[in-house]
Amino acid sequence: MHPLPPFYDDLAAFRAEAWRRLAEGAETGRSPFHLPALATVDARGQPRLRTVVLRAADGETGTLRFHCDARSDKAREIEAGTPAALHVYDAGAKLQVRIEGHARLHRDDALAEAAWTGSRAMSRVCYGIDPPPGTPLADGGAYAMPDEDPDSRIGRENFGAVVVRAMRLDLLYLDRRGHRRAVFLREGEGWQGAWVAP
Ligand SMILES: Cc1cc2nc3c(=O)[nH]c(=O)nc-3n(C[C@H](O)[C@H](O)[C@H](O)COP(=O)(O)O)c2cc1C
Repeated sequence: MHPLPPFYDDLAAFRAEAWRRLAEGAETGRSPFHLPALATVDARGQPRLRTVVLRAADGETGTLRFHCDARSDKAREIEAGTPAALHVYDAGAKLQVRIEGHARLHRDDALAEAAWTGSRAMSRVCYGIDPPPGTPLADGGAYAMPDEDPDSRIGRENFGAVVVRAMRLDLLYLDRRGHRRAVFLREGEGWQGAWVAP
């Protein structure tokens, strides 16, 4: 049987491991942490769920970033100020991470501009889609997308970078010898963590 991981009975190490995996996931397309599910709440109070690409995760600030079209439902839901949550499960690492927090949409500031500049042309073209995301179409292909051009700013006005400030983390590590689950709440500059029954 494989040795227990160093974070198995160490709360601080468990939290650090989650952020390490998230940061790695933002950099690595193959990682399950690259594609978390994002939950928001719509105007009727319904939960809404979808996949996003994780672009950055920083354990120091407890923040994560993804990009979206500012014309999309998720952008409207985030701008309405409802809470957001992210979920990811890495079957290889046997680690589930659930994050709840506040999301903020950046469109016209330096953060959004840096995120746009750092995006690849193949990603940017999505923000130039016409008509806007979610518009009913006469047939599946009845929309237009701009050509890929690294110098083009087509779609920039629709581009949004979302920063999620985590307020609560719920971590679950699966092991036949006993699962480990811990909950962390943001408190001032730091985090208050406790083991909970899985
Ligand atoms: C693998 C994958 C990655 C995706 N990445 C993103 C993303 O980074 N940002 C985004 O807005 N939508 C992304 N999407 C599309 C969303 O899941 C969703 O279908 C779309 O944004 C509309 O969501 P909304 O109507 O809730 O705004 C991705 C979908 C898949 C399958």
